[in-house]
Parts: sequence; structure tokens; C-alpha cells
Amino acid sequence: MVGQIGKRQNMLNPQNTFYSVKRFIGSKMTDLDAEFTKMPYQVRADENSNILLECPAMNRTFRPEEISAQVLRRLAENAEKHIGQTVDKAVITVPAYFNDSQRQATQDAGKIAGLEVLRIINEPTAASLAYGLDKNTNEVILVFDLGGGTFDVSILDVGDGIFEVLSTSGDTRLGGDNFDKLMIDYLLNEFTKKTDVDLSTDPTSLQRVVGAAEKAKIDLSTLVQTTVKLPFLMEGTQHLEEVITREKFEEICGDLISRCRIPVETALKDANLSKDQINQVVLVGGSTRIPAIQSLIKDVLSTEPNQSVNPDEVVAIGAAIQAGILSGEVKDILLLDVTPLSLGVETLGGIFSPMIQRNTTIPTKTTETFSTAMDNQPSVEIKIFQGEREFAKDNKSLGVFTLSGIEPARRGVPQIEVTFDIDVNGVLSVTAQDKGTGKQQNITISGASNLDQNEIDKMVSDAEQFAETDKEKSSEVALQNQVDMLCYQLEKKAELLDLTEELQEKVTNAITSCREILQSQDLTNLAPEYEKLQQIYSEVLGQNKTNENV
Ligand SMILES: Nc1ncnc2c1ncn2[C@@H]1O[C@H](COP(=O)(O)OP(=O)(O)OP(=O)(O)O)[C@@H](O)[C@H]1O
Ligand SMILES: [Mg+2]
Repeated sequence: MVGQIGKRQNMLNPQNTFYSVKRFIGSKMTDLDAEFTKMPYQVRADENSNILLECPAMNRTFRPEEISAQVLRRLAENAEKHIGQTVDKAVITVPAYFNDSQRQATQDAGKIAGLEVLRIINEPTAASLAYGLDKNTNEVILVFDLGGGTFDVSILDVGDGIFEVLSTSGDTRLGGDNFDKLMIDYLLNEFTKKTDVDLSTDPTSLQRVVGAAEKAKIDLSTLVQTTVKLPFLMEGTQHLEEVITREKFEEICGDLISRCRIPVETALKDANLSKDQINQVVLVGGSTRIPAIQSLIKDVLSTEPNQSVNPDEVVAIGAAIQAGILSGEVKDILLLDVTPLSLGVETLGGIFSPMIQRNTTIPTKTTETFSTAMDNQPSVEIKIFQGEREFAKDNKSLGVFTLSGIEPARRGVPQIEVTFDIDVNGVLSVTAQDKGTGKQQNITISGASNLDQNEIDKMVSDAEQFAETDKEKSSEVALQNQVDMLCYQLEKKAELLDLTEELQEKVTNAITSCREILQSQDLTNLAPEYEKLQQIYSEVLGQNKTNENV
């Protein structure tokens, strides 16, 4: 199950609920810090350091591409229902910072979902498409995208139907989830201070705190104060009630808020612009609704941000416009994107020689001539890297291939022409040619994902198979959610009303036994217990009426 229903499931079953897999797609375990891979679900690597997500409930592992495919499939199905037509092609957006392998893996996810991926575009580019469509004048736009897990800043030159990305920057570990985490820690700590009870030891209580923390954060975007109220924690024995003011929230999350300043400044520097040269600031991502974030933007850029398009939808709207361009329905827009990181080869002494500088507009192609390092060298190894560091080893390795059959010659004599070619999707292919013999070798970077067609085919059929089990599972989960919801509602009602002791006891018992079943994951008795719960709910409502009549 995907979406809200999945998010609710997360409350009860954290080890088997995957979220934020975007942070793993197309990366190898060796690319990531250990801290980055700490999730409620288990993340491990296979023998090639490819990332696997462990699903104990199904006793199998998933590649991040497969989970993304499930999300894409669901989005396509939702769209199908809405427009009444089959959806088999897609434009997918990715963070501007995604490197080549992450883009490739995203494309694979689309294939697994049975979609033909027409184009991968950068999220800020999509956002500015959504904003810039009707503008004729030339404008420099800064896109500030603070979502759930990542933060991206991009500066674009938009005008006369052309969108050119001038620079990109970001923080791949900053998003709404971090704010939630700090709020959760705060609530847990305050609770322990007051009661000496550690709620984090009980998964159900913890998940309720997690949900309440995000809700409080969201409330504080519109309210100056909110109360977190969680009765009947720790199997009904504990009640949490905590008032949080917006000021307190800003104090708790102060460091996160100020971290947002750095990528903005880096992006300005990379684009060689001062803040006065930014004509518009566009907000993207749910977390830009946080008032302190909006104040920070005003403070750093001295501009009132533009919020005329809903920050949750703006990227999707841009992708739809791109799809319109590709299908010929939207005319007169030319889209220019850039490479987020420099691409090049390793040369003598392990030095990284960039062939394509970061922020170069794509598609692009460049050729340079290299030679041998030793006399009579029969072959050269072309090692391709991506990054900004001086030494190749400090950058990300994208691939390697060998050009052999070079005729014996003194070192420095053979001429090896190396060509880097990036297509419209940002996918790189590298060719090496020996000018002497005309021999040629090339490689399309299949990246960290390394999925071959067989693997993709298998994943496609797996995905189809899951569609079936998903349907079965989803009715079960729907019942779980209903029970969970009714427990909450009943609890709230009971709190408000002055119930007889007898009825209060019934309520507590019914809620406790339902929660026990939910937690145990053995759902055999859930349906009859739900019925009982419904009956008691009516009784409570009945007593309410009697009270009102008195
Ligand atoms: N009103 C609000 N105030 C504060 N935060 C909000 C509000 N509404 C949504 N959020 C937060 O926005 C985040 C989700 O934003 P969004 O949908 O843009 O993320 P995403 O695109 O899925 O994530 P990412 O771009 O990091 O991959 C969540 O952390 C959510 O709690
Ligand atoms: Mg986003």
C-alpha cells in the first residue's frame, strides 16, 4: 500500500514500512555514511555494495528501485482513474543534485512500474516551468525547495520560453523529517523529565508521538501555540499533554532553520550573482510553509517569496507541462538543464581531469585528446568520475573501460580521443578512440544501479505480482486503520464526557484489547473486536444524549 494508507501503517509496523527510499536509489552502500542509512527499516548491502531494504514481514529484500516503482505505479493508477485513460508514459522529476547513477536508477524504477520514462527533469526546473510559463520577460529565479527529506536551492534564468539553470546547491540531509525528529525528541524528553517513563521503549506509544510531533509542527505553521495531547500511552497507563509555542518550536529547530542559509549563499556564489539580482524567489515543498523558514528567506534575500502556486503541487505541475511539451500540446518552450557535478577522467597520478564542468547546460558533448603514459603501452584504461575534488579517488566513480590494441609507440605519441556526451536526460556516455587504428570503445554509464534488462524484467513481474497481494493486504489495512481511528475517537469522546464508572471501564478494556491485537499483528480477532468497539461507541454516544437531556 502506498500513500496515506502506507503512512498510517508506518505507525504500527515501522520495520516493514519504507519511506524516503529516494535517498538510497542509485547509490551504493559505500557512497553513504552509516548515519544516513539508519532508518526504522533495515538497510543493508549485497555483495556488490548495492543497497537492499529488508522486509521481515515478507521475508525478502527490495531494491530501492522496486519501492519507487510501487509509488510510481500508484501515481499512474491514480492519474488513470482521474483522466479515464491508460497512463503508460511518464516524466519523472528528481532533485537537481541527483548524479548520473541516481537518474539511471530512477529511470529503471519507471520501467519496473511498466512506464516508458520520456524524460527525467530536475525538480527546480519543473517548479520554474510551473511558475514561468506565462512570463515573457527575462527573470532570475531562485527556487527554494524544502521537502520531507531534502533541501535544494537552484537559480534559474527564465525568459522567452527558455529555462536555464545557472546553479544548484543543497543539503541532502535536511528536510521536514529532521524537524519532526527534533520535536519527537523534545516530547520524549519532556515526558521522561515529568514522569520518569521512556515512551520510546513502546513501539505503539512511540509511533503515536511521531504522528503527533509532525501534526504539532504543521499546526505551528498557522497557530502560535498548540497542545499535544496523547492519552492512554504505554498500554493505557500514561497520558501526555504538552503545550508547544511557535517560539519554542523555533528554539528547538533553530539550528536546522539557520542551516538553510548556507546552500542559498553557495548557489548565489556559484551563479556569480548578488541577492539584488534575484528577481523572484519560488517556494517548493511542504516545509516552506514554516513561518521561520519564510522569515529566513526574506532575511537572506531581501525578497518576499512568491507563493502563488501550491508548494506541494508545483513540481508535479511542471512535470505535466514538460509532458505537454514532449507530446506537442504545449509549444514554444525550450528547456535547458545543467549537469549538477563535474564529469571527467582520471589521469596520471590519480588526478581528476574534468571534461564537462558542473553547471554546464545539457545536452552537451566534449572531446579531448589523451595519450599513453608508458612506452609501448598496449591499452588505456578510461576511468570515469563525477565530482569536484582534485583527486579522482575522492570523487564518485561512475565506470571504467579499457581501450586495447594500441600500436607500439613511445609514450605520449598515441592519440586517444575521449568524448563525453550527455543526453537530454542527463545520462552520460563516454567513447574513446585510438586515432592511429580507428579502434573505438564506449560505455553508457549504467551507474550504481547496475540493473540489467533481466533484473528489470524480473522486477517488473514482481511488481505485477505485488499488485495482487497489495489488493488483498489493503482491505486488511483499511480495517486496521478503521479500528485505530475509532480507538482514538472513542478515547477523545470518553475524555470529554463524564462516563459512568462501568462504561468507562468497558471503553478502556475495549480499546486496550483492540490495540493489543493491532500490535500483535495477528488479526484473526480484529473484526469481532471492532464490532464490540462500535457498540461501545454507540453506548457512549447514547449516554452523551442522556446527559444533554438532563
Ligand atoms: N503546513 C506545514 N508546515 C510545516 N511543514 C509541513 C506543512 N505541510 C507539510 N509539511 C511538511 O512537508 C514535508 C513534505 O513536503 P513535500 O511533500 O514537499 O516533500 P517531498 O517532496 O516528498 O520530499 P523531498 O523533496 O524531500 O523528497 C513533510 O515533512 C511535512 O511534514
Ligand atoms: Mg520534493
